[in-house]
Amino acid sequence: MSRAAELPGRRGGRIIAIDGPAASGKSSTAQAVARALGYAHLDSGALYRGVTLVGVRHGGVTPGAPLDANRLLLEAERRGLALHYDGTGYGVYLAGEPADEAIRTPEVTALVSAVSALPEVRAWVNDRLRALPFAGQSVVVDGRDIGTVVFPEADLKVYLTASPRTRAERRLKQRGSKAVVAADLDRETAALAARDQADSSRAVAPLRMAADAVALDGTDLTFEEQVAEIVRLARGRVGG
Ligand code: CDP
Repeated sequence: MSRAAELPGRRGGRIIAIDGPAASGKSSTAQAVARALGYAHLDSGALYRGVTLVGVRHGGVTPGAPLDANRLLLEAERRGLALHYDGTGYGVYLAGEPADEAIRTPEVTALVSAVSALPEVRAWVNDRLRALPFAGQSVVVDGRDIGTVVFPEADLKVYLTASPRTRAERRLKQRGSKAVVAADLDRETAALAARDQADSSRAVAPLRMAADAVALDGTDLTFEEQVAEIVRLARGRVGG
């Protein structure tokens, strides 16, 4: 029996998994694909960012300090870290308040790979991701290990990449940079490469393409083309 059939909340729902390196556009693409198909969007990285944010605020997470997974998860529970459904997707909440901005600061971004390498943190996040979708609800889930570990039974798995330069450029623009300066681009490219290296080389659930995933390189695609391609693949697999 597949895990989809075993989990009560999952029965009947379709799952599309979008994995890939940092800033490949997974989250915004997953959100647009979900909208086009009428599915809910679930951003697993947001939950890892949420645990990291709680750690920075209350769990002693600072650069170079040893990490205490039990303390982190205790604080996450105590501070009410959770994903809530808002009608279109799942957002990260802390003590009942949306935390979407706070989880995307450079401080959280710099520390999230170390926090998400902790096996206890991964198990905690995975439990929540697997339990989330309502009965019969179809979801587009994005992350690093969705097709390989979290939902290996996904109906469609996409591995989304783009060249390091393209990803760095997009991330800078996303942060509001109008004219992208060469030095900033170099710095951002190096920061993304460091996070990819950390995510790909960790012992538990490293970033890698699932054997049955479709590779999609978005370097020369517009956002709309990228979304349309995944929607096309999804319709081919699951109909609709
Ligand atoms: O949006 P961006 O590519 O910057 O990253 P994200 O999806 O918000 O994920 C932030 C970090 O969480 C990643 O760099 C990984 O370290 C971790 N992560 C993970 O380990 N497994 C996932 N399924 C999703 C994110």
